[in-house]
Amino acid sequence: MLIYMAPMEGMSGYVFRRAYHRRFGGIDRYFTPFLANKKLSSRERNDILPEHNEGMELVPQILANRAEDFLAIAKELAAFGYKTVNLNLGCPSGTVVTRGRGAGFLEFPNRMDMFLAELFEKCPLQISVKTRIGKDVPEEWEELQQVYDKYPLEELIIHPRVQRDYYKNTPNMEVFGQAAISCRHSLCYNGDICTPQDYADFTAAFPQIGKVMIGRGIFKNPALIGMIRRQAQATKEELLAFHQDVLEGYLAVLSGDKNTLFKMKEWWVYFAEAFTNAATYSKKIKKAGTVREYQTVVESLFREQELVI
Ligand SMILES: Cc1cc2nc3c(=O)[nH]c(=O)nc-3n(C[C@H](O)[C@H](O)[C@H](O)COP(=O)(O)O)c2cc1C
Repeated sequence: MLIYMAPMEGMSGYVFRRAYHRRFGGIDRYFTPFLANKKLSSRERNDILPEHNEGMELVPQILANRAEDFLAIAKELAAFGYKTVNLNLGCPSGTVVTRGRGAGFLEFPNRMDMFLAELFEKCPLQISVKTRIGKDVPEEWEELQQVYDKYPLEELIIHPRVQRDYYKNTPNMEVFGQAAISCRHSLCYNGDICTPQDYADFTAAFPQIGKVMIGRGIFKNPALIGMIRRQAQATKEELLAFHQDVLEGYLAVLSGDKNTLFKMKEWWVYFAEAFTNAATYSKKIKKAGTVREYQTVVESLFREQELVI
């Protein structure tokens, strides 16, 4: 089974990915959070620079609904040596959707079809797609799949929720099951694999699917992939060492405590779930105004609490 790390805007940038690869590994493909600027911003550029991603297989992801924008970004990526790019057709966030991008594009299959036709005519790179199953209702999937089936996608990653779900409700395994039977593409499943049991349930239900992508599960439990692949138990020592790598990584590239703390606090929204009695510590982590204060809370959490993963 191939396991991919999901793109997570604000969280799975190169600092996190690099530390992850060094401490845990076991990820077959990483994806960048979406790149959306026709001319890459310096933050986006840093994220895809090959020297920031050594030893990892990385697929940059593009968020666009105009072929011209997509092609401009793809051209920059080609110059860095990338062979494949991923198109984001799943982002549910309001600002993205109202501009008809991400999962907002799914409402317009005809326009999407024309967009893909132009990409496949002009893009020098292979293109994969990460998609939801519709904008409002799962019945939209059939038409969307017909569009995808017209093009030679490198792979199709399906997160079987509609945009309206955001991250609520449960993935629609019925629609994924239909796609698994009828879609012509090499499929990757994505959604709600957060424990080894979730993984076991998925592989038992879909033994023919050879690829899964995991996002929040890794941020809740960074040791998840080892637990899945080697039945290894997570330890506080390895999690703390990884945490320190991520913290130091941010401190080295971001200016000032504030920016680093912002990043770390975003991660703790998920990571706190790995510990007993996390609520009190979470509050203190949120309040921490300096890296020193933050470190003190994190150290006491690791010392005083147990893992529940
Ligand atoms: C904070 C956050 C940021 C995300 N950023 C992206 C993104 O940049 N590109 C993308 O395709 N999906 C993004 N996603 C969606 C995830 O890649 C993934 O599809 C979703 O979380 C479901 O998988 P999971 O249940 O394994 O987390 C994001 C999700 C979250 C929660």
